[in-house]
Amino acid sequence: MLDRAMVIYLVCAARPNFMKVAPLYHALGANDRVRPVIVHTGQHYDVNMSDAFFRDLGLPEPDIHLGVGSGTHAEQTGKVMMAFEPICLLERPDWVVVVGDVNSTMACTLVASKLGVRVAHVEAGLRSFDRTMPEEINRLVTDALADLLLTPSSDADENLRREGIPGHKIRLVGNIMIDTLVAHLDRAHQSTLPAQLSLEENGFAYVTLHRPSNVDDRGTLERIMLELTRLARRLPVVFPVHPRTRKMLTEYGIPVDGKPDLKLIDPVGYHDSICLTERARFVLTDSGGLQEESTFLGTPCLTLRPNTERPITIELGTNKLTSVDQLGDDIQEVLDGRRGPGRIPPLWDGHTAGRILAALLEA
Ligand code: UD1
Repeated sequence: MLDRAMVIYLVCAARPNFMKVAPLYHALGANDRVRPVIVHTGQHYDVNMSDAFFRDLGLPEPDIHLGVGSGTHAEQTGKVMMAFEPICLLERPDWVVVVGDVNSTMACTLVASKLGVRVAHVEAGLRSFDRTMPEEINRLVTDALADLLLTPSSDADENLRREGIPGHKIRLVGNIMIDTLVAHLDRAHQSTLPAQLSLEENGFAYVTLHRPSNVDDRGTLERIMLELTRLARRLPVVFPVHPRTRKMLTEYGIPVDGKPDLKLIDPVGYHDSICLTERARFVLTDSGGLQEESTFLGTPCLTLRPNTERPITIELGTNKLTSVDQLGDDIQEVLDGRRGPGRIPPLWDGHTAGRILAALLEA
């Protein structure tokens, strides 16, 4: 049976990809008509940005590791393409499944499409309509080329239709990250990190910031750190610092020590992050995943960006966009309890991987 099984490459590259690939790997692995193969491009390589997630999410070592590492956008994209092409040529998988919007997502899509290998994009159709974001370029290119567009919410379907993607290529399957969240919630509850940091339930803010637009500009980063210092006088702040952000804080010589209630720590694992999200008074972030996870968990979220490719987290969920100028007022609104509760969007139900498997088998 196995030699006739469909070979499905699951491409992962960077931290937010691993929780999208994990439920797919488990669902595909349980079906004898398919054989999942994990391809890690190596875009993220630190233990706490990659290996820790494989461990937390019960993923095996990648079957194929391309080891590309960091670089400029062109370097990183080019290195992934050059490393992925011979792999694809050797085995000619039946499908290449790519997730999210990182450089590796676009690079592997370009390679597979040109070789005539079918591509399925999980989390298709999201648009920030902001082409200064590298991820928006990656989304547009990936969705233009993919053969099967698996969307998390109906706004994504509308975006794709507006771009002229034929309806038969689009499948609304729901939010794959929520599969992982549902499967791991019990283990997240066992995290000891809040206790280690002396954080009380609803008594702290959980901050993650790593977008180039927030951290690569000295003036912006200085102002953000000033706001966080102000906030920490009222409420403890826990801020696991992404390697990009750490690098920029160091480069600009922005002081980060000596404030006990502004807790700058190393990046945390998946269970710790979910636990912090659930127990925080609010989340302040520029991450796509945290906007969704906080909506699912009902925790107010402030997104420090002028736009989001996940508008459903604002329309239905707990999310609100903010800016450095507006941040003080928006924080006050949360602390005063003036933010209403959100709702969980349709099909964010923990069963998206099964729907994706069905769509792949059918297509
Ligand atoms: C990438 C994705 C972004 C995603 C983010 C999640 C793109 C264009 N960006 O951004 O969409 O939200 O991942 O984290 O694909 N570094 C390390 N260790 C690592 C990885 C990176 O130290 O394991 C440092 C390097 O100095 C590197 C920098 O972080 O130059 C940025 O890494 P990169 O992969 O280029 O982009 P991210 O900012 O992580």
